Amino acid sequence: MKQQIFNDYETLSSAAADLVLETVKQNPGAVLCFATGNTPAGTYRLLAEKARAQAADFGQCFCFGLDEWLGVPPEKNGTCHQILHEQVFKPLGIQSSQVHLFDGMTTDIPAECKKMNEMIRQKGGIDLALVGIGLNGHIGFNEPGVSFALEAHAQELHDSTLASGQHYFSEPTPISRGLTLGLAQLMKARITLLLASGSGKAPIIEKALEGPVTSEVPASLLQQHERALVMMDKAAAAHLTK
Ligand code: GLP
Repeated sequence: MKQQIFNDYETLSSAAADLVLETVKQNPGAVLCFATGNTPAGTYRLLAEKARAQAADFGQCFCFGLDEWLGVPPEKNGTCHQILHEQVFKPLGIQSSQVHLFDGMTTDIPAECKKMNEMIRQKGGIDLALVGIGLNGHIGFNEPGVSFALEAHAQELHDSTLASGQHYFSEPTPISRGLTLGLAQLMKARITLLLASGSGKAPIIEKALEGPVTSEVPASLLQQHERALVMMDKAAAAHLTK
C-alpha cells in the first residue's frame, strides 16, 4: 500500500482525477469501479473538466458501481445509481451499455450478487477501483466484522453509516441495508484507490493505515494490497505518525 498526502481537498481531487484519466488513456478498455459519497465528488467534477479539456475518450471503458442502498428506487436523489449517472457517466459520455450497477430494488439478492460477480469476472476483473472510507472504517458497505473473503453481498448497515447515509438524500429515506462489492474483489483490483478528506476522517485513517489488519476496520485490509494507493489531504492524514 502506498500513501500520498495533499495540501487540501482540491489538489487531492485533482490528483485522483488525473489517475483515472491516465488509466483510461493507457488502457481505453479499462474496467473501473466508482464509489459515491462526498469525498469523490470533487474528483468526479475535475475528471469531467479534464476529460473535456483533453478530449479523453471513455467510449470503450466499462464501469461498475461499488455499492447501493437496498429498497430505494434508483431514480431517487441520493442513490448510488443517480449520483454516478449525474457526476460520472453523463459528464463523461459513458453509455448505459458500458455500466453495471447493483439493482437496489431487487427481490432476489443472491441472484443480483451472482450477476455482479459474474460480470466482473467476465470483464477480466477491475483495473481501477476508486473507493472512500466510512467513519467506522467501512469500504463500500463492508461494515466492521465483515469477512475478507466475500464478493458481492448484502449487508445490514451500522447506525453511523445510516446516519451519514441519510445526508445523501434530499428527503428522509428509509434505509437499513446495502448491496456492496466485497473486499475480496477490491483486493483483486489492479489498483484500489482510497480517497480520504477532512479532519473527521483522521482517527479512522490512522487505524486503517497504521493499526492492525482486522475485520473490525475493513479498510485496514488494504495494507496487504500491493497496489492500493491512499490519497488523502493533510487534515485526514493529521493523526498518522509513520
Ligand atoms: C458511504 C458509501 C461509501 C463511501 C462512504 C464515505 O457509506 N457507501 O461508498 O465511501 O460512505 O462517504 P463520504 O465520502 O461521504 O465520507
